[in-house]
Amino acid sequence: MSKAKKLIVANWKMNPETYGKAEELFLEIKEAARPISKVDIVIAPPAIYLGELASLYSGSRIAFAGQDAFWEKKGAHTGEISLPMLKDSGATHVIVGHSERRARGESDEDVNKKVLAAVGAGSIVILCIGESDRDHRSGHHLEFLTKQISSALRGVPQNKLSRIVVAYEPIWAIGKSEEEAMQPAELHETVLIIKKNIAQLYGKAAALKMRILYGGSTGPKNTERLLAEGEVDGLLVGKASLSSKEFAEMLQIAQRIS
Ligand code: PGA
Repeated sequence: MSKAKKLIVANWKMNPETYGKAEELFLEIKEAARPISKVDIVIAPPAIYLGELASLYSGSRIAFAGQDAFWEKKGAHTGEISLPMLKDSGATHVIVGHSERRARGESDEDVNKKVLAAVGAGSIVILCIGESDRDHRSGHHLEFLTKQISSALRGVPQNKLSRIVVAYEPIWAIGKSEEEAMQPAELHETVLIIKKNIAQLYGKAAALKMRILYGGSTGPKNTERLLAEGEVDGLLVGKASLSSKEFAEMLQIAQRIS
């Protein structure tokens, strides 16, 4: 996956309710993806649907991701899913540190262990970071992000950095209407700070190569501005990825401006 292409990730979260509906949604997205040559597309369905959906696909336009993974390879960890299991089901990517998981108790240390395990297993990590409304309003969000980045990447060697994509998702902007997404100008400023943080840890060249995505109330109406003016390399899409029509429009916009 080169940085030249935009990367659009569909995070289905705990949706849809049945495998039948997931298959229908996937087949519609698969059709929509056919002419999209300039965008890398990743779909993160619930893990229970992953293997079956991946087996329906033999093309190269779409890759699959787990929404989370545990750091141990196997063992007595009821309810957890390992990276080898995800890979075996067809996932090349894994989302780590989503704010909805952090809200359920995942610590910075847990996120770091998952990042290390995932790069070790050869997966591409979509590392989610993002501040709360309180941190944002108090103006402390940049320090907060710096801390989240350095703790998530602790111990990740330079030569594994190409396997990491950062998804900046301000928590206050997730799951709202498109009008409530972060404004592109502010996004651009934040992306520069994220890159500066990466540069401090790994050098400027590595920071410039790293893909930075935005997530939080993205949809067809704000895709163009977020990508172009926000200067991000792609989007992590929640709600709008559950509508094949909206998601297809977003792919078409990303293709047009790539
Ligand atoms: P949203 O979710 O697009 O529904 O805001 C984004 C996310 O949480 O990844």
